[in-house]
Amino acid sequence: MKIQIINGPNLNLLGKREPDTYGKQSFEEYFERLKSRFPDVELHYYQSNVEGELINKLHETGFSFDGIILNAGAYTHTSVAIHDGIAAIKTPVIEVHISNVYAREEFRHKSLITSKCIGLITGFGMDGYAMAIQHLVAKSQ
Ligand code: DQA
Repeated sequence: MKIQIINGPNLNLLGKREPDTYGKQSFEEYFERLKSRFPDVELHYYQSNVEGELINKLHETGFSFDGIILNAGAYTHTSVAIHDGIAAIKTPVIEVHISNVYAREEFRHKSLITSKCIGLITGFGMDGYAMAIQHLVAKSQ
């Protein structure tokens, strides 16, 4: 099975960015662990700080992959275009946040994308990505 992970703005700085909130590990390091934890899954990773590029990746993978795990970063709270991009594709999308967005500033309590995703995982650190993969694998069996 093929799963695409898409990370949005500022998530290229994981490990360096606000480590008290997002942890000390880079996504590249974590991605290697994910690949060894799920050897039977074809995992792909993409990150961009640019809204349109995130939408292009949704379109590119959204008709052929078995699942998409999307951490849209701050665009989660603002982007009608990403909401529409998820609505436009066939592949199920799981929304993931490393931090617990509901325990943070009020502007993070609103997501424009949750309603188009099959579910939301927030607050479990990087492990949220593994939880999302686990769900997609279980669903496919
Ligand atoms: C985030 C939460 C967002 O509110 C924030 O803008 C991010 C990261 C998270 O993974 O916790 O960039 O998506």
